[in-house]
Amino acid sequence: MIAPSILSADFSKLGDLVREIEAAGANRVHVDVMDGHFVPNLSMGAIVVKGLRPVTKLPLEVHLMVEDPGRFLDGFVKAGSDSLIVHLEVLPDPRPMIEQIRGMGKKVGLAFNPDMPVERIEPYLRDIDLALCMTVFPGFGGQPFIPESIDRLKTLRAMVEKHNPACEIEVDGGIDAKTIADAATAGANVFVAGTAVFGAKNGPTAAVKQLEGLVKK
Ligand code: DX5
Ligand code: ZN
Repeated sequence: MIAPSILSADFSKLGDLVREIEAAGANRVHVDVMDGHFVPNLSMGAIVVKGLRPVTKLPLEVHLMVEDPGRFLDGFVKAGSDSLIVHLEVLPDPRPMIEQIRGMGKKVGLAFNPDMPVERIEPYLRDIDLALCMTVFPGFGGQPFIPESIDRLKTLRAMVEKHNPACEIEVDGGIDAKTIADAATAGANVFVAGTAVFGAKNGPTAAVKQLEGLVKK
């Protein structure tokens, strides 16, 4: 599953670029939301999801890199989001929020940063649809993949097999033609790619197809 992150897209052409990656075979659209507190950057809000909703049939997956995700869930759901990913770092007890998102009929993802012990997500694997293992410190596109992530992914894959094999394992940060195969071998099955898709020399279509091919191999 390839999930292009629109954070790296040319926003003046956003609709056309999303149509392009859909036609190229991308599986979902990854929307990076930053609040300037949880991460040292600002990006976009529900208005972007609302604008893209009529443009694509692909699921719109919202990655909430924000300190207080509860404040924004409603707005993103109303705008047409299909899944909401919240960070373990800001949720001392993630269960109420997991239930809240489920109650809204949406898929739930739990994300964690590269410095979070991967075992911390284990108690929640049964209750979520997706575990997002950050492979860079969030905040900016175009950062290099942190190599230690490979062992973390292997651990996570073993835990997912034990508790909830249907739970997807997503990687986010520095995924490109050089890193995607190793991430797949280590256990990831959903791949966020921003720069590698929207900054690709040969354009997003070729990039999506190439990444997909490398995963299949
Ligand atoms: C990290 C974001 C990522 C990022 C990925 O702050 O959550 O989704 O945009 O970008 P690339 O693929 O360029 O590392
Ligand atoms: Zn992201």
